[in-house]
Amino acid sequence: MSIHGVTAKKSGNFAIGGDLPVHRLGYGAMQLTGPGIWGHPKDPQEAIRVLRRAVELGVTFIDTADSYGPFVSEMLIKEALHPYAADVVIATKAGLTRSGPNVWRPVGRPEYLRQQVELSLRHLGLERIDLLQLHRIDPQVPLEEQVGELALLQQEGKIRHIGLSEVSVSELEQAQQTARIVSVQNLYNLAKRDAEPVLQYCEMHQMAFIPWFPLATGQLAKEGGPLDELAKRLHAKPSQLALAWLLKRSPVMLPIPGTSTVSHVEENIAAAEIELSDADYDMLTQSI
Ligand SMILES: NC(=O)c1ccc[n+]([C@@H]2O[C@H](COP(=O)([O-])OP(=O)(O)OC[C@H]3O[C@@H](n4cnc5c(N)ncnc54)[C@H](OP(=O)(O)O)[C@@H]3O)[C@@H](O)[C@H]2O)c1
Repeated sequence: MSIHGVTAKKSGNFAIGGDLPVHRLGYGAMQLTGPGIWGHPKDPQEAIRVLRRAVELGVTFIDTADSYGPFVSEMLIKEALHPYAADVVIATKAGLTRSGPNVWRPVGRPEYLRQQVELSLRHLGLERIDLLQLHRIDPQVPLEEQVGELALLQQEGKIRHIGLSEVSVSELEQAQQTARIVSVQNLYNLAKRDAEPVLQYCEMHQMAFIPWFPLATGQLAKEGGPLDELAKRLHAKPSQLALAWLLKRSPVMLPIPGTSTVSHVEENIAAAEIELSDADYDMLTQSI
């Protein structure tokens, strides 16, 4: 699939929280750091180019977190894109601490969440965060205290909408007793669909479902596998089919493929152009 004339606009629109429209195919900015999502990337200029190219190709939804680096991803986004175009929505997260490469520990104490939201505002150069997601529920802190602090920040005008990450339907329902939740970000892709009940809940309630690790096609990307065969027939890449499948799976689906290279960001956004037939979609759905 060539990138000539490609735009993420082709993936369709979704209004987060009913009032924040984005093109459904977005970009995940976790891969813009050093190894283990720690420290600075090897080539910061390429990271800047990736972000600018994504927006140039119509991406209006960018996902990041305070903990990516930490802070590195948010600061690169500010450097590359600030002042932001009016239609660009940056979603960030708080609630995971970092003490080294690949180490992620949840801390949901209200004073910590508040500090991290203040830091994200500063690092992103924003006065209000459009979508703040609780990165993980901290099992040591009552959920209503964690979501309650985000609701307070919302009342203070520092957060527009609140989302959750890696939650079950019952946790989602529990959180909604404290604040309005507009999105869920859970692990979900063609090969790993454990979050299906949460996706169905989001569909029923018009909440955004943001599948992380959307390209983990695993065995399916292999030569001779079902994705590879169809990719050859459609002149596409297996990774593009994984994204096209997600986009067709649900109108509330907002995939955020991550990459550290311009060539992959171009390839991924070109997936917005692919319209899978019902037969091809069913074949992929049933192939695992
Ligand atoms: N909520 C959470 O707990 C959570 C957890 C993890 C991630 N996330 C979010 O989800 C986003 C996506 O997740 P992810 O980055 O883990 O997984 P992903 O987007 O499924 O895959 C990223 C990996 O695929 C490679 N890749 C990207 N495009 C490719 C292409 N066209 N061809 C071949 N390889 C390609 C990237 O390497 P290159 O850099 O070489 O392209 C990278 O190693 C993250 O950026 C982050 O915003 C959230």
